[in-house]
Amino acid sequence: MFDLDQFTADCNAAVRSDRSHKLVREVVARAVSDAKAVVAGLGEPRRAEVQRLYSSAELTILNVIWAPLMTIMPHNHLMWAVIGVYTGREDNIFWRRVQEEAGARVEAAGAKSLGERDAEPLGRDIIHSVTNPLSRLTGAIHVYGGDFFSVSRSEWDPETLLERNYDMEKNLRPVRGSEPGYATS
Ligand SMILES: [Fe+2]
Repeated sequence: MFDLDQFTADCNAAVRSDRSHKLVREVVARAVSDAKAVVAGLGEPRRAEVQRLYSSAELTILNVIWAPLMTIMPHNHLMWAVIGVYTGREDNIFWRRVQEEAGARVEAAGAKSLGERDAEPLGRDIIHSVTNPLSRLTGAIHVYGGDFFSVSRSEWDPETLLERNYDMEKNLRPVRGSEPGYATS
C-alpha cells in the first residue's frame, strides 16, 4: 500500500542526506514499482488536475493527472524534478535555447517517453513539453527539489517558441479535455 505520509517522510529524509535528485529518485522508483498500490493510495484518476500533496522550501510533491491527448507547452522548472508515472504515459520533448538568437527561442533537442513504473530525473535547467499520447488519463507523481509554487520561471509559446513568463495561475487551472492553456509541472 502506498502511504503518502511515509512517501513524504522518505522524500524529506532523502533530500536531507543528499540535496540532489539521486535518493529521491530511488524513493519515487520504489513507489511506482507498485503502480497499483499508488492508485489505491492516491485514488483512481478521475479528471485532469494537479493535486498539491506536499510543499516546503525544499520539496514539492504533486499528483499530476494529464487529460487524454493533452499537450503542455515548453517550460522550465529551475529546480530538479523526478517524474514517476503510475498509470498511462508521458511523452517528453526536451528543448534547448537557440544561442545565436536574441529572442530567447528554443529548438527541440531530444525526447523521452515515460511509461508506467518509470521514474526519471529532470535536471535543474531542463526545458520540456509533455504530451499524454493516450486516449485515457495519465497519472504521475512529480517531486521537485524546491518550492515549486514560489519560483518565477519561463514557458515558451508553442507556436513561436519564444520565451515568456510562466503563468502559474493559468497553468494550474484544472480543465477537462485537451484544451489549450492547461499546463503544469
Ligand atoms: Fe514540467
